[in-house]
Amino acid sequence: MSDYYLLIVNINSEVVGLTPMTLKRRLFLGFLVGGGAALAVALPGCQSGGPTAKVVNLYTARHYEADNQVYEGFFKKTGIKVNLVEAPADKLIERIQSEGQNSPADVIVTVDAGNLVNTKNANLFQKLDDGQLNGAVPANYRDNEGYWYGFTRRSRVILYNKALFKNAPEVIKTYEDLASDVVKADGRKGILVRSSGNVYNQSLVASILNTYGEEKTLAWAKGVVNNMARQPEGNDTAQLKALAAGVGELAISNTYYLARLAKSSNPEERDIASKIGVIFPNQAGDPQSQGRGSHFNISGGGIAKNAPNRDNAIAFLQYLATPEAQAVFASSNNEYPMVQGVPVDSVLQGFGTFKEDTRNDAVTFGRKNGDALKVMNKADWK
Ligand SMILES: [Fe+2]
Repeated sequence: MSDYYLLIVNINSEVVGLTPMTLKRRLFLGFLVGGGAALAVALPGCQSGGPTAKVVNLYTARHYEADNQVYEGFFKKTGIKVNLVEAPADKLIERIQSEGQNSPADVIVTVDAGNLVNTKNANLFQKLDDGQLNGAVPANYRDNEGYWYGFTRRSRVILYNKALFKNAPEVIKTYEDLASDVVKADGRKGILVRSSGNVYNQSLVASILNTYGEEKTLAWAKGVVNNMARQPEGNDTAQLKALAAGVGELAISNTYYLARLAKSSNPEERDIASKIGVIFPNQAGDPQSQGRGSHFNISGGGIAKNAPNRDNAIAFLQYLATPEAQAVFASSNNEYPMVQGVPVDSVLQGFGTFKEDTRNDAVTFGRKNGDALKVMNKADWK
């Protein structure tokens, strides 16, 4: 048994996890980036892993403090401790690949179907196909072969500056409308959106690609680029700030970024949110095209290929789909719960009701991210 253990430390320097350190793993400390830092310490006598251990090693790209409530709730219910490794999705994939068959990863959680598809394609998930999860998670939000499941939903919507583009909800009703001349009519500056390298944008464009095919999607993407208020820069929050400041009159963003600003303790951020309205696109018309519903993406996870604590991992994923965990897990990042009957946060409710695009399921648009990026590149979407 190794005498070295890896302490996972969050940004507040609190120890949030512990995992054994083989010599090989010590060489990969450099992979822990983003929300965490790491240090190796000698802790003789500690145990982690093994078939009877009461632990589950969670590798997650989520980094919301309130998620800790979920891990505590799971521990109280099962006695299974959650060891946490936090890093962006690409770093998690690199790390698990480097760890190989000895990887302590039991559960991998990430955001966006594109990342879940990549993780499956990298052969890092094992098939689960669990009856309980199949019952709780709608078919369009889980892998069709049972390798991963969505646990929260987020919509990528159109936002508008309520003072500068009052009638936006009447004239911008679809993602398709973002390519129309009405966007820059009456001296308006146009659309704010982040780069084509962003996986959320790739998933949205993949859903359009799957609806209309390459030729029409390319024409649409060129129209959107033409209608941009500036070259893409910054994250979704940066688009919202620019939208409130009048750099453009429309923006594309995930809903939770607006909810986060609306709930902020900082009055300036609440002021930004108060200037912004939400349009859930594609609500009316032919369900195969214009009326297919708003694009919804997921945060989700599955069992790691070589999970040393497989049973605990299954119990953990099943717990994520319980109403108790759903209420916390979704609200920790202001997302919509995945499981029916769990109440939606009041700020999200205030954004309005909507029909979701179920025509383009998460597997399909997750798989087409690469093709979507090619179309965006051709359209010169930076
Ligand atoms: Fe995000």
